[in-house]
Amino acid sequence: SEFWLSELLPRSILSPSTPLDITPVLKDPAVFRTVIDLFEVHVRANYTKVDLIAGLDSRGFLFGPALAQRINVGFIMIRKKGKLPGLTESVSYSLEYGKAELEIQRDAVDPGQKVILIDDLLATGGTMSAACELLTRRGAEILDCLVLIELLSLRGADKLKPHRTHSLLAYD
Ligand code: PRP
Ligand code: MG
Repeated sequence: SEFWLSELLPRSILSPSTPLDITPVLKDPAVFRTVIDLFEVHVRANYTKVDLIAGLDSRGFLFGPALAQRINVGFIMIRKKGKLPGLTESVSYSLEYGKAELEIQRDAVDPGQKVILIDDLLATGGTMSAACELLTRRGAEILDCLVLIELLSLRGADKLKPHRTHSLLAYD
């Protein structure tokens, strides 16, 4: 029931000392199923046609393939530099300490394909915007950026505009 969905998720993953630890979500199959259920409901309610789910290295890989299976579309990887074989395109982005690079295979998406991105956490939005930049360069149409947890005070959703974002749990 909806009561179960709304109640179970926050209670299970909210450990006051480590609210961003996603370990309990993955360890409990009912909670993990609920998380994928909630992503699926959002996607089905908002988008009639989705071509691909794109997961962000590495924790986006924990959720993306499960969601992609649910909505019966393919999953693609946006990886940290040097991990993907074949021809790639990369973009650098800022982290708390220094810089990093994300990569995508050049044939991962066809121009015009409708893509939904997914990751575990939206903090500053630096990682997600870099991924959006890569996909946009490859000609994809970005429908939405999904995350399990959003840290509202860091204003990542503002950084990502005009792209849409959707989080299951938000903290100040
Ligand atoms: C974490 C998290 C998000 C990102 C969010 O990834 O999994 O991907 O940071 O931060 P941002 O919004 O400020 O960019 P991390 O780079 O720690 O790597 P991991 O997923 O491989 O653990
Ligand atoms: Mg990450």
